[in-house]
Amino acid sequence: MTLTTSAPVRTTRPVRTARPRRYLMCPPVHFDVCYSINPWMEPEKPTDGGLALVQWERLINLFRGLGHQVEQIQPVPGLPDMVFAANGATMVDGKVLSARFRYPQRADEGPAYADWFRQRGYQVHEAEHINEGEGDYLVTGSRILAGTGFRTDRLSHEEAARFFGLPVQSLTLVDPRYYHLDTALAVLDHDEIMYYPQAFSPDSQQVLRELYPDAILATDADAEVFGLNAVSDGRHVLLASQATHLIEELWARGFVPIGVDLSELLKSGGSAKCCTLELRELPAR
Ligand code: ARG
Repeated sequence: MTLTTSAPVRTTRPVRTARPRRYLMCPPVHFDVCYSINPWMEPEKPTDGGLALVQWERLINLFRGLGHQVEQIQPVPGLPDMVFAANGATMVDGKVLSARFRYPQRADEGPAYADWFRQRGYQVHEAEHINEGEGDYLVTGSRILAGTGFRTDRLSHEEAARFFGLPVQSLTLVDPRYYHLDTALAVLDHDEIMYYPQAFSPDSQQVLRELYPDAILATDADAEVFGLNAVSDGRHVLLASQATHLIEELWARGFVPIGVDLSELLKSGGSAKCCTLELRELPAR
């Protein structure tokens, strides 16, 4: 006797749709590692500025090739970390919250980015509390996830909730290697995320488990190559090509992972997402 099963083949791989984005980026022409404000930065190690620029140009070309619009801000001499545009501000529904940096070495980046927005007619809310822009504020479909512990002040989370009029979920980072939220967590689509649990306090791990039971969890190796510092347009996910486990998981869930090599910027503790500030206008009605 042969047994046949009529159960349909399960296809769990959803179809993903990309939404065109607008990004702000800053060419790393003054990039260098000449101070240390995170454990990745070792000023005595040489950095190759030319290679940093080539790697960054590949990233901007990938975005453009995917149909995204990229604006550029003029890099300021003496601000070697200005390439990390994600830290420059937070923009949601056309509203801009300025950045206010923790360390004096980066303090002048806040006004430089705020001016870029003002010159284009955006109103900028001058932040009262320390916050490092989208480094610690990640926007999902239903809330803003907000990092604290190393850079952004907890009080800034309340300021952001008031200013944007959106729920803000605070998350506490505990591992100095993952000092910004965007080094430990990435938003893939609406309410889908991937993250590295060990970067968070036990309470925050619990919150993440409850809010995102289906999240992709990163391994130590994924996190160490900055695989979570990823940029997603809802379908394509640009991330460090060495993050092989994350890449497999993304494929399995219907995303199209695109590996990038930003080895020079990694020497400063940054990768794809750090270089990219999303410009979120008011949704068209
Ligand atoms: N060297 C920079 C710093 O320590 C890197 C910033 C990376 N940016 C980010 N969004 N994680 O501030």
